[in-house]
Amino acid sequence: MTGVKIISTGSALPSRVVTNDDLSKIEETSDEWIKKRTGIEKRHFTAEGESANSLAVESAGRALEKSGISKDEIGLVLTATLSGDYSTPSVASFMQSALGLSKDIPYIDINAACSGAAYAVEIARSYLVANQDKKKPYALVTGVEELSKLLDPADRTTNILFGDGAGSVVMTTKEGPYASTLGAESSLAINCPGAKNLRSYIRMDGKEVFRFAVKILPYCIKETVSKAGLSTDDIDYFVCHQANKRIIDHVVRAMKLPKEKFYCNVDHIGNTSGASIFILLDEMEQKGMLSPGDTALLSGFGSGLTWGSVLVTYK
Ligand code: COA
Repeated sequence: MTGVKIISTGSALPSRVVTNDDLSKIEETSDEWIKKRTGIEKRHFTAEGESANSLAVESAGRALEKSGISKDEIGLVLTATLSGDYSTPSVASFMQSALGLSKDIPYIDINAACSGAAYAVEIARSYLVANQDKKKPYALVTGVEELSKLLDPADRTTNILFGDGAGSVVMTTKEGPYASTLGAESSLAINCPGAKNLRSYIRMDGKEVFRFAVKILPYCIKETVSKAGLSTDDIDYFVCHQANKRIIDHVVRAMKLPKEKFYCNVDHIGNTSGASIFILLDEMEQKGMLSPGDTALLSGFGSGLTWGSVLVTYK
């Protein structure tokens, strides 16, 4: 099977750090309530001069620099986002001039919300396999969100959850075990009406989403591992969308998996939707947790409702 090799990672977080105590000064909430329900202690919001597009460029630029490959070897630029600066042009096409990339390759944004990173990796793999361009065998894949502009100050159950940020990978194909599980079922349990830059807020039925998440994440993990002909013991890290620590703790307990394999950073990053898996992967890389040959299962779930899980190998 033709699988995925992660060559390098990158990330970018905006400069404004907003703690739970900061939120409690502007709305009826508390650090204790938020921590207990979600595990979140702080998140980053964009400040003047920062946006989804600028974060995406910074993050992708870091991944590119670390990759050691030439810009001309990138055959595809994909961005997973629901909150780019413009409805059109895409965030991906913005990167062409910002990063000095080739004009002769596709630049695409995809919207699969918090499953975006897993969707994007599988789409990039499929494209590289179909294209077989030996001169351009790499894809630059980014997840980016600026959700702060979509948060309703009057909706304290939702606005405490989300943050802004970007994460990126440079990836290529590699022969070895591989599987992906991607899906969706129509639902408005998490939605954001209207065009992206208008005053339009994220709405969520928190309880319904919680029930969905604790059911779909174990399904994604079991299904993908089994399709790849592996067992959960063969997976070094389960890199899950950082929605809420309680969801992950629930899944770890229910599946009886070692919790050390589920590194989490939702406490200091919050839920960054399509960006969260790549931000987490980059943090793990920076902490020296990843060794060449490690396998990681990237799994997300979110608005759609969508779900996605892909198996990747690190270097
Ligand atoms: N601070 C303090 N109190 C709050 C609050 C806040 N930020 N938000 C809600 N409350 C109050 C409610 O008003 C309610 O009070 P009441 O009992 O007096 O009526 C109480 O807390 C419980 O509210 P509820 O909405 O039932 O909370 P919950 O226990 O379901 O927790 C979530 C809310 C959002 C934390 C929880 O539903 C959740 O984690 N859902 C999954 C969300 C998610 O991960 N989404 C992203 C998926 S990609």
